Amino acid sequence: MAARVDRLFVHCRELVTLTDGPATGPRRGAAMRRLGVLEDGAVAVRDGRIVATGTTHALRRDYRAEAELDLSGYVVLPGFVDCHTHPAFVKTREHEFHQRCAGADYMAIAAAGGGILSSMRAVREATAEELTDAVERHLWGFAAHGTTTVECKSGYGLSLADEAKSLRALQEAAARTPLSTRRTFLGAHEFPPEYRDDREAYVRLLCEQMLPQLAPLADYCDVFAEPGVFDAAQSERVLAAARAHGLRLRVHADEIRPMGGAELAVALGAASADHLGRISDQGIERLAASDTVGVLLPGTIFFLGKAHYAPARRMIEAGCAVALATDFNPGSCYTQSMTLIQTLACVQMKMSAEEVVTATTINPAFSLQLDGEVGTLHPGKRADLCVLDLPSWRAIGYAFGGNPVVMTVKDGEPIVANVHERDPDWFGGGPEPV
Ligand code: NIG
Ligand code: FE
Repeated sequence: MAARVDRLFVHCRELVTLTDGPATGPRRGAAMRRLGVLEDGAVAVRDGRIVATGTTHALRRDYRAEAELDLSGYVVLPGFVDCHTHPAFVKTREHEFHQRCAGADYMAIAAAGGGILSSMRAVREATAEELTDAVERHLWGFAAHGTTTVECKSGYGLSLADEAKSLRALQEAAARTPLSTRRTFLGAHEFPPEYRDDREAYVRLLCEQMLPQLAPLADYCDVFAEPGVFDAAQSERVLAAARAHGLRLRVHADEIRPMGGAELAVALGAASADHLGRISDQGIERLAASDTVGVLLPGTIFFLGKAHYAPARRMIEAGCAVALATDFNPGSCYTQSMTLIQTLACVQMKMSAEEVVTATTINPAFSLQLDGEVGTLHPGKRADLCVLDLPSWRAIGYAFGGNPVVMTVKDGEPIVANVHERDPDWFGGGPEPV
């Protein structure tokens, strides 16, 4: 007898399951290029979880569904997992963008008190409610671009009270949306003005007060390890203290100038080393031999007008687990579009369509220890889907500049519909389009 399910998503032109590899763990090398594509694919969902994937014919035979949702003509992927974002801000910084376009340098703007410190001033002035509302708006922006799981960093408070306000805003805003989120404490994003001349005192504040008090509000700790910001010794102290307080680690590493950041991340057993535009040969080797995921952020290099994209090809060939993320933030990368990041990864880092799919789903999920929950369409995982108006998965990367996401599904429910004329029934009785 046919088993009962809550919903069948049917007639996906192509369903990209990623189920021809293991459900969990990072994918490296050739394994990044196996997508498990089904034509006329379907997904059976019960209680928000995937029960089965298969052809529409097979699933209609095997399951009796309370409801069906017809996705004919669309390419369906696991929901995107964006594992590096900075959504805890209240004010955009478009003036700096145009200053850079006119020739100014990102780090020079920061050294002159703009950059991260400009966002810090706005966050400190904002009420908790204003900050929470802003984060909630940002989270819905991710959802509109097909992202269902988001790593969210603090880092524009830079004091005990304002970092606490930021982490609580991330927690409260996430609770108002259906998205899966992880929180990262990034008090070591910059030195605030009151500690500019006594950096040692800020490192002590981070290690001795902020981490002990704020660790319960976060899953991870991150540090902007960069010459002129947190040097190697300071980064290591903060990260070691974070680990002692039970946080897992992520590192902004080798972003603008080389500093052995990837090596440091691996040595500390970090979940991820991010940016890596200036990663060394030794850094690639160490990363390849570890479970630290290399999170590449080509949107940032693009938006800063720089040339040093991370050496993705060499990293993949060496066996590094590579992920892609937006780095969404008001300064160096103001986009929430994972499909744009996929295009940049193809064009500038020579990644294949298959690789950019793996790098925006299961590999970032692994970096967030959520690979048992999301990132592929294996039975038992959350039914999180990204529905794309593309002729084929092969058009991933190729189609750019628009938002090809027509629907985002979280835990089996459509949460966003960028509705097309021809799909008027999608929201009959369901949630309102966002
Ligand atoms: O990842 N580099 C440090 N942090 C962010 C930028 C933050 C900002 O400019 O507001 C990044 O690029
Ligand atoms: Fe970042």
